[in-house]
Amino acid sequence: MSMFLRKTKHALYLRLMKLMVNFAPSARHTAFAGSGSSRQLCNHIVRTGVKKVLVVTDKPLRQLGVVDQAIAGLLDADIDIAYYDGVLPDPTFDQVAAGVVVAKDHGSEVILAIGGGSSMDAAKIIAASATSDESPTEWVGFGKVKHEVLKLYAIPTTSGTGSEATMGAVISDAVTHTKSIISGGTLLPAAVALDPDLIVGLPPHITAATGMDALTHGIEAYIGVWERGTRLEDARIGVKLVFENLAAAFHNGNDLDAREGMSMGAYYAGLAINQVNVGNVHAIAHQLGGKYGIPHGLANALVLPHVLDFCHDEAQSRLAELAVLVGAGSAGEGDSQLAHKFINAVRDLRTEVGIPDHSDQIKREDYDYITDLAVAEGAAYPVPRLLDRDSVVAILTHITD
Ligand SMILES: [Fe+2]
Repeated sequence: MSMFLRKTKHALYLRLMKLMVNFAPSARHTAFAGSGSSRQLCNHIVRTGVKKVLVVTDKPLRQLGVVDQAIAGLLDADIDIAYYDGVLPDPTFDQVAAGVVVAKDHGSEVILAIGGGSSMDAAKIIAASATSDESPTEWVGFGKVKHEVLKLYAIPTTSGTGSEATMGAVISDAVTHTKSIISGGTLLPAAVALDPDLIVGLPPHITAATGMDALTHGIEAYIGVWERGTRLEDARIGVKLVFENLAAAFHNGNDLDAREGMSMGAYYAGLAINQVNVGNVHAIAHQLGGKYGIPHGLANALVLPHVLDFCHDEAQSRLAELAVLVGAGSAGEGDSQLAHKFINAVRDLRTEVGIPDHSDQIKREDYDYITDLAVAEGAAYPVPRLLDRDSVVAILTHITD
């Protein structure tokens, strides 16, 4: 198909999606923020009158005591708590099914997700599956979860995915490793706590990778071509907070101010993508995660500067605004020059937090497979420039060792 036809098809698709999204039910959402806010969220849950809560998390967080710290307010109120702690990175439909068994056996009334994006995403689909006999594989796409789901709460323990602020979940197939996105208004957590006390123990390399994911969300939402809601303001807050706090949080994990800045930054970037979705960086990074298990934030960080170079011409005014926002340049310089300065600032930040610019996991013989999926996925997003095969191969060549 010619690029003209692809662009026309893309524009029509975005119009249709915008109509669908605008007619989708919107959910109420409350955020508690700052040191001690996990107790505020627990108090909030207790005040709703529920007695049985399912905590969805992972084993390391339970062993580290982070889960007990997060739910102290529920334990003090003698809430009946069940645990599903079998979530692993890139959660699978099998893990969702295992969590549903725990929820049904326990008679859980609500779900509290504690962890990174994996636990929050798994919890969203457990919440939907616990009240339905349908297979969650039937919900892949947007707006297919039409029934009432268990009310969901979230306490993120990383600062990156933004899943606490979004209505989407990424679930993988255990055999093919293909990642599926399930999205819809009913999956948005009802209330969240952005509590830096729970994030101080996050190791530097995970702080770095998840922080680059948050940055990618802010940038992709900002340069996307949908005009919706408050995504520009939210994306600007997200990008600014990451630039101001990621290096400090990386170098000193106990810096509570930096941790709080990052948790807010990731949250606002999440709000932004919840309105307009992600873009070409994720379209490529999802394939690197699915094929090689490269952690999501690292995959984004590898690809991000190259995708910005790729869409420099189309997105230069937005990238120029971001350059001024983060102090990489001054208003009045030309847009193109400022855009390059912003892309360089992204590269510098990536280097400062110890993330490499190559991966030895990517194999040239997989380029065709990765490219097919990336081009198709990118066309589903409101990107400023559609990916083409040659450009994806060029980007992969840049990041392959
Ligand atoms: Fe992401």
